[in-house]
Amino acid sequence: MQLTINGTGVEVSDRHAKTPLLWVLRDVLGMHGTKFGCGVGYCSACTVLIDGRNTRSCQTIAERAAGKSIVTVEGASGPVVDAVRDAWYRGNVVQCGYCQPGQTLAAISLLESNPAPDAATIAMWMNGNLCRCGTYPRIKDAIDVAAQTLASGLHPEPLTARPDPEVAPLSPEDLADPVRPYIQIKPDGTVLVFSSQLEMGQGVHTGLATIVAEELDADFDSIQVVNAANGATPDGDVYGNLVGGGFQITGASNSTRAFWARYRQVGAQARARLVAAASENWGVPPAEVEIESGVLSHMSGKRATFADLAPIAEKMAIPDGVQPKDRSAYRVIGGEGRLRVDTAAKILGKTRFTIDVSLPHMLTAIVLHPPRFGARVASVTDWAALAELGVKAVIPIEEGVAVVAETFPDAQRGLQALQVEWNDEHAELRSSEELLREHRRLVESGERAVVARADGNVDEGFLEAAHTVDAFYELPYLAHAPMEPNNAVCRMREDGVLEVWAGTESPVYTQMVGSRVAGIAQERVRVHVPDAGGSFGLHYSSGANDPASEALQIAKALDWRYPIKVQSSREEEFKSGRFRAMAVHRVRAGANRDGRLTTYHQQMAAEPTSPNLPFVGEVLFKDGVDFMTITGVVDNPYTFENFKVEATNVDAGVPIMVWRSVGNSHTEFARESALDELVVAAGRDPVDLRRELLVNNPRTLRALELAAERAGWGSPLPEGRARGIACTNYLSHSAQVMEVSIDNRNRIHVERIVFALDCGITLNPDLVRAQVEGGLLWGLGAAAWGEVVLGNGGNIVTQNFDRYPVMRMQSTPHIEVHLIESTEPPSGVGEVSVPTVAPALANAIFALTGTRIRRLPISRTIQIY
Ligand code: FES
Ligand code: FES
Repeated sequence: MQLTINGTGVEVSDRHAKTPLLWVLRDVLGMHGTKFGCGVGYCSACTVLIDGRNTRSCQTIAERAAGKSIVTVEGASGPVVDAVRDAWYRGNVVQCGYCQPGQTLAAISLLESNPAPDAATIAMWMNGNLCRCGTYPRIKDAIDVAAQTLASGLHPEPLTARPDPEVAPLSPEDLADPVRPYIQIKPDGTVLVFSSQLEMGQGVHTGLATIVAEELDADFDSIQVVNAANGATPDGDVYGNLVGGGFQITGASNSTRAFWARYRQVGAQARARLVAAASENWGVPPAEVEIESGVLSHMSGKRATFADLAPIAEKMAIPDGVQPKDRSAYRVIGGEGRLRVDTAAKILGKTRFTIDVSLPHMLTAIVLHPPRFGARVASVTDWAALAELGVKAVIPIEEGVAVVAETFPDAQRGLQALQVEWNDEHAELRSSEELLREHRRLVESGERAVVARADGNVDEGFLEAAHTVDAFYELPYLAHAPMEPNNAVCRMREDGVLEVWAGTESPVYTQMVGSRVAGIAQERVRVHVPDAGGSFGLHYSSGANDPASEALQIAKALDWRYPIKVQSSREEEFKSGRFRAMAVHRVRAGANRDGRLTTYHQQMAAEPTSPNLPFVGEVLFKDGVDFMTITGVVDNPYTFENFKVEATNVDAGVPIMVWRSVGNSHTEFARESALDELVVAAGRDPVDLRRELLVNNPRTLRALELAAERAGWGSPLPEGRARGIACTNYLSHSAQVMEVSIDNRNRIHVERIVFALDCGITLNPDLVRAQVEGGLLWGLGAAAWGEVVLGNGGNIVTQNFDRYPVMRMQSTPHIEVHLIESTEPPSGVGEVSVPTVAPALANAIFALTGTRIRRLPISRTIQIY
């Protein structure tokens, strides 16, 4: 069979004639720019152009593409391509980047056929291309810009990306140096920054590059950032997260918060060394050496680049008393218009995610997970699977059965032919409806409830109350479903070093798992951390059904003879669980005759999350209280005179993991909805009541007032529209106003979101805005449609995007993000906008329709478009 790919004829064995084109490209031809997201035609991550038309390659049998022109991200070229890529690049569209080759090819196809599409056409055309990072508003803008560029006759330069830098493993001497584990200057002038934090779309590489460029006075464009790992020494981990117990962990939106001081300091130290080297070389006082954009100079005319002096500087002691710059001297931090450092490679499909790792003789495995959580393998009938072409082995592992094959489609066919009997002795056999009833029963009965916080006397507060609320709020299991399904690769080298590739948020934990499974010292396990195609908490995961653990078990069972890639199908990723906990809350609150809040009591039941987290579990689960369950209530932004929080840990067999905004994603829905209910009962205004409660929290109050002002709170809206509001002090200080409408089919539309945020000093305002936009769309999709369903007998029903609808382009509202100037240290932004989405939306829907949403997703109660 011959295929014409990017203008070149390519011979492909007839054995692959019936294989989806996606896998011929990826697994047969090694072209990894085309991505796998769902395999069933629901995400368009696999988009290629066939005879110019955007086409899902996972749904196209290879032989049907024979005789046609196939263009992939690797080969696309021409004026439209360059205009689209340029607009994408300059618009800071990309986050994790995984979906972007497909997005840009779809946009190219659109503009080739319609050079001036209007907003509705763009939304319709791009609606099939999912982006879990929520880059839709920027995609729309970029298509507009590209169309304008083409109309004006301009032809931007083709986008190029620098090749990945060569990164040598850190030596013991490197690890002992204060600077070299973080910053190294290469002979070609590249400033190589090692990011302790996994880049998974949140922009941490750009944030750290910004800090280093500032402190080092480097040329921003000379900086390249790579994910770091293997920094553990007997004295601790050089990449240890002080907010994460000293271990290398990415999470809780604390990358900038936790590492701001450290990267400023090492940047300043690296600069001081370069100055000392110049001073010694030139025989001039250090104070007379200047640095600008990576060039050192002296008034005598002497000049040198970083690369000239780095070999000397690296060997010098750090001068005493080095301090980072004062804020007044910032030239890079906080500047507008700075582009992400990782954008070009992602647009061009050159970023290598874990799914793209390919090693000589590597085999690919899919793990069949049990159909019910906690079930175990009882028996396996594997002859039919082993008879499939390309299938090499069938291996039962701790939580499932692995089919190991030459390619992913080979493993898929083997999986379909496999017969497994499951032992349900320890399985969770309850449906999600039954589990929800159990959550509710626990809240109602108060069984095993633990008081997490109590101030004043809530009962006395009720005595004063003239208006009361007593309401239950119910929230489902939610999946992360990042666009890159979860994967891992491992191989045992001949020298006895075990290598693991995983886009993990806790590389040290991966190293420990490798050490345990292989029975070798931790130092002999080398972890490589590719960028993750989204994570949202999933890659914090641990346990036997983590792909890294699975790959290690499989490789060991095959005597470490083959490098093994575990590649999750979307279905198997859903079946490995690690969901946001199901939660039920009851809020009872009262206000006196004047409408002043007198008492607030929140009870909840949820599966605990913290015990599942490596390293920090014990800190976060204390005295029977899971901090991840109560966060957002115990540490809420308000001053409540009489206040009580009680929580019950639910015992269920569903694997639970942190999910973007963790417990706040449910606790704040209950709190902000209940306050709105009290507002209505007491005849108050939602902003006024919150203003009163924020008396001791000026930063959240400022966000509330700014959001209200910019949204025109209180001003009349056209018929059929209404607003809702919610605020939080989660990680930063923020508030949002949601504006909704209803159409003649009684469907709710979200028209506009106005978001105000105080997150301290901003390193890059546009990246903050991008994170807020992404979080809003993430929260909106979850609030509107998100729900993982377990059916009768605990069967996992939700297994792909067909049953797990997420936000798409057509439903994306107009979003405005207003940043509040601040001199406070930077605080988290990646998750801040999520928790207030659902309550702001529910409050707006109530204002519009009189229907109060107390159970999510909203689509259970009312249609939402
Ligand atoms: S539509 Fe092809 S991978 Fe999702
Ligand atoms: S940028 Fe689209 S999924 Fe991450």
